[in-house]
Amino acid sequence: MTTLFVNACMRGEESRTLTLCREYLAGITDDVVEVDLAALDLKPFDASKVAYRTEKQKTQAWDDPIFDLSHQFAEADHIVVGAPYWDLSFPSALKVYLEYVSVCDIAFHYTEDARCEGICKAKTLTYIASCGGFVEGANFGYEYLCGIAKMFGIPETRFVAAEGLDIVGIDVDEQMNKAREQIAALR
Ligand SMILES: Cc1cc2nc3c(=O)[nH]c(=O)nc-3n(C[C@H](O)[C@H](O)[C@H](O)COP(=O)(O)O)c2cc1C
Repeated sequence: MTTLFVNACMRGEESRTLTLCREYLAGITDDVVEVDLAALDLKPFDASKVAYRTEKQKTQAWDDPIFDLSHQFAEADHIVVGAPYWDLSFPSALKVYLEYVSVCDIAFHYTEDARCEGICKAKTLTYIASCGGFVEGANFGYEYLCGIAKMFGIPETRFVAAEGLDIVGIDVDEQMNKAREQIAALR
């Protein structure tokens, strides 16, 4: 089994989200493949990239490198997304990554009766975040990923967050430990 770790922890080794992701990943038995979005530095899709990809889709040139990230995502058995809570959602690098992944006839397709149907193999998408405040009522990043998981045919989504980490006077270790308890409950 393969778990794909989509690492959107843009602060690298300083990231509390990354700490939680690593602890979660250390406790699973799958092979873990990591996509480091800070290192990858993907550019958003523009007109020429859309035209290029559309042409490759039309000619079914599925081995073109433009589809590599989509194939990798679609073939993983489990997905783990690590993303800090930025501006009520997540770093834009994650949205750009999803532009590369979200490909018709790799991640989803249309049925004969024109229904969008997910064709990714993953059974779960686990979203791990850390937040300066509390996300209650504004968990837009995770909610968006739930929509993506539904579109891609991933049946189960799970959420873990260490919250309130930037609140003056808060016990950061205690908040991190609460997230660790959530991680333990996933296993
Ligand atoms: C660009 C940016 C935007 C942020 N936006 C929010 C926000 O909207 N709400 C919030 O509670 N915290 C926000 N924060 C604080 C982070 O969520 C918090 O520091 C988090 O723990 C960072 O995760 P990291 O340690 O993995 O980098 C933001 C931080 C940055 C750098």
